[in-house]
Amino acid sequence: LAEVRQKTGMVKPSSLLKPVALTRIPGRYLAHQESLPKLPVPPLKQTCDRYLAALEPIVDSEMLKNTQELVKEFQAQGGVGDRLQKGLEHRSRKTDNWLSDWWLQTAYLDYRLPVVVHSSPGVVLPRLEFSDRQGQIRYAAKLIAGVLDFKSMIDNETLPIEYLGGKMLCMNQYYQVLCSCRIPGIKSDSVVNYALNKRPPSHITVVHNYQFFVLDVYNSDGTTLTVDQLYIQLEKIWNSSLQTNKEPIGILTSNHRNSWGKAYANLIKDKTNKESVRAIQKSIFTVCLDAPMPRVSDEMYRTRAAVQMLHGGGSRWNSGNRWFDKTLQFIIGEDGTCGVIYEHAPAEGPPIVALIDHVVEYTKKSEMVRTPMVPLPMPKKLRFNITPEIKRDIEEAKQNMNIMVHDLDMKVIVFSHFGKNVPKSYKMSPDAFIQVALQLAYYRTYKRCCATYESASLRMFKLGRTDTIRSATSDSANFVKTMDDPVKQVALLEKAVKAHRAYTDMAIRGQAIDRHLLGLKLQAIEDLSALPDIFMDTSFAVANHYNLSTSQVPAKTDCVMCFGPVVPDGYGVCYNPMEEHINFAVSAFNSCADTNAARMVQALEDALVDMKTLLDQTPKAKL
Ligand code: COA
Repeated sequence: LAEVRQKTGMVKPSSLLKPVALTRIPGRYLAHQESLPKLPVPPLKQTCDRYLAALEPIVDSEMLKNTQELVKEFQAQGGVGDRLQKGLEHRSRKTDNWLSDWWLQTAYLDYRLPVVVHSSPGVVLPRLEFSDRQGQIRYAAKLIAGVLDFKSMIDNETLPIEYLGGKMLCMNQYYQVLCSCRIPGIKSDSVVNYALNKRPPSHITVVHNYQFFVLDVYNSDGTTLTVDQLYIQLEKIWNSSLQTNKEPIGILTSNHRNSWGKAYANLIKDKTNKESVRAIQKSIFTVCLDAPMPRVSDEMYRTRAAVQMLHGGGSRWNSGNRWFDKTLQFIIGEDGTCGVIYEHAPAEGPPIVALIDHVVEYTKKSEMVRTPMVPLPMPKKLRFNITPEIKRDIEEAKQNMNIMVHDLDMKVIVFSHFGKNVPKSYKMSPDAFIQVALQLAYYRTYKRCCATYESASLRMFKLGRTDTIRSATSDSANFVKTMDDPVKQVALLEKAVKAHRAYTDMAIRGQAIDRHLLGLKLQAIEDLSALPDIFMDTSFAVANHYNLSTSQVPAKTDCVMCFGPVVPDGYGVCYNPMEEHINFAVSAFNSCADTNAARMVQALEDALVDMKTLLDQTPKAKL
């Protein structure tokens, strides 16, 4: 098997444009999955000690003292902690992964805020050069062919296995993102996946001017439609959806999950509606052919594109041109704006971006080839019967969407002073360097350290998702508080960066604290016992109020992922560190007077530049 090994860093499928093996490698995926280790349950005492250490920079001494007492009691021999730990260890023996089902349920399916802004990440691709309908359709045809090319690697089980820190990663998420969709419920949602059906779906859905179509992308002999054929089919769709006065049925999916759950039950009472919804849910993925958005300056372009990906711009623009429950939606604007929005429940950013990297390369190479014209049937338009009640739900969803649109404060920038190259030249982890800069930016702005979340991959383990790297450490606090003391600065910076990298290593090896604490809490709930005091404590609330929610999503393509903050007074920060520049997307809420995305971006740029200057000025630092 052509597998690529690398000591550090995540290796993405590097077989871009190499011909996909025509022969399947049956069983390869399962054999790989079976070879992966199980996610460990960390020792109780280790998590308790690390939890107290993580609180130090973010809570005051009185709170800390109180929590120390609670933790002592919790972990006493034969105490509550011990009992819950045994419960977790038992669960771990019985399941492939003691955490993954719980995590899917609590982090996603039970989460009731709209998926738009609050959960689904967007991806902004570099602007394309077209600015008309023909360019849009042409690109869409190539993109669809590119995704299908990637899909054939999944289907053939020829997708190269990825590595992190020299260890093989779980590939399961790749099998979850196509042919899947979230389904709303009144109290909790679910996810359906049709990929493993006896007859897996052979169509995608395309939406234009709020009208959905089924586009069959496979011929009867199993071959995919050529780019040329896809172009013709898309043109037919475009021409039969010229009316712009249609009800934006898809906007229903942007509502609060409980409201959408109720509206959904009502919507699918009608047989036609049910069939149309099912066709969207079953489709391999969705392509949104967007109307052009208002023009902005070049400097503002990526920011505007980011909000188009995250929410579509509001009910007047493209927010109705989506089915936000669909796992993968590729957005192609008539003005050359392109990107993706994905529903987060089945996967993290890296597999999505690996797919995008493949598609972007594919679209560069694949030229339109004239194929003999076998007439293809007209793609089927999906009908919806809109009752007055459904109309009311649509109006409500429109209003709520417009409130979200006004509330989202977003800033996307290209930090062009340097990229991974500078921290690397100082023998520092680029990710840790960026995270310490974020700590400095936040401290300079608010004169305090805050609970900070960085996602760490748990994919070294079977069915692994993520744990949290708590980027606010005692070492980062020491550094940001003494930034004005030139003598100590460099040593403290080095210490802070090393501490972050050490936390990362501990997290990706399954020894971080947050998922373990969550497991202990859920075990307590499952045992129907009262919640232990440590989970009712103010420190626990502070520790889980992430004013900074951050994530690195590296890509080969010059793109950036973006997402909303996770608390009303917080920031969402996503970045793609390239070799000589870094793409950042920073979000906040306008309804919070204390936050401002542009101001945080400026503070972050200043912090990065100042940290570099600090290292440059200290000749010893350069190794
Ligand atoms: N000196 C020189 N180079 C170094 C270095 C050092 N001390 N430490 C790291 N590097 C290099 C690495 O070799 C790597 O090189 P590459 O660019 O050739 O690949 C590069 O710097 C990046 O390493 P680093 O910045 O340390 O980050 P990482 O790639 O190990 O990633 C995480 C860190 C936390 C992002 C990663 O472990 C992870 O978990 N990723 C998944 C996150 C996720 O799921 N996000 C999505 C949520 S939706």
